[in-house]
Amino acid sequence: MSLVLIGFMGSGKSRVGRELARLLSCPMLDLDARIEEAARCSIPELFLSRGEAAFRALETSELRRALGEEAVLSTGGGVVTREENRELLRESESPVVWLQASPQVLAERIRSEPGARPLIDGQGLLDLEQTARRVRALLEVRGPLYEQCATMRVQTDGREPEAIAAEIMSAL
Ligand code: S3P
Repeated sequence: MSLVLIGFMGSGKSRVGRELARLLSCPMLDLDARIEEAARCSIPELFLSRGEAAFRALETSELRRALGEEAVLSTGGGVVTREENRELLRESESPVVWLQASPQVLAERIRSEPGARPLIDGQGLLDLEQTARRVRALLEVRGPLYEQCATMRVQTDGREPEAIAAEIMSAL
């Protein structure tokens, strides 16, 4: 079967996705990795050289392709920002699982990989409080969009990927 993970940057989609793929004995697809392969550069480089619009166009074409494959698909946190992507997710027959986390936890995780998230802090210069402020602002816009696409939601604060994956498996 296929399954899609959505949620904010730092919500643990990749780690939970790997665990789910192991439990389901199926491949794990990382949409960001697919985009990097297609663009032949890293996501921060893509944002810098071609801008967010080019990134989003690639994200939509790679999402469409990935949804046709049998796999656990980990998406980027902004996949829900395009109406076309939200439609693709809603039309897919796969469960779409929203991994939720508090802004503070998300900010801590984002800060542990400085410079990896161009939309929050491309140069890795913000402190925890500034990062949390940006996370809150973006979450306010994106929360309702995740809600529109999700068929299931899981709270992840303070929990190990194995426990989160086990909860998803028992709900399926
Ligand atoms: C983005 C999230 C990132 C990546 C890109 C844009 C976003 O993925 O796709 O930097 O708009 O939230 P992760 O959620 O895996 O960090």
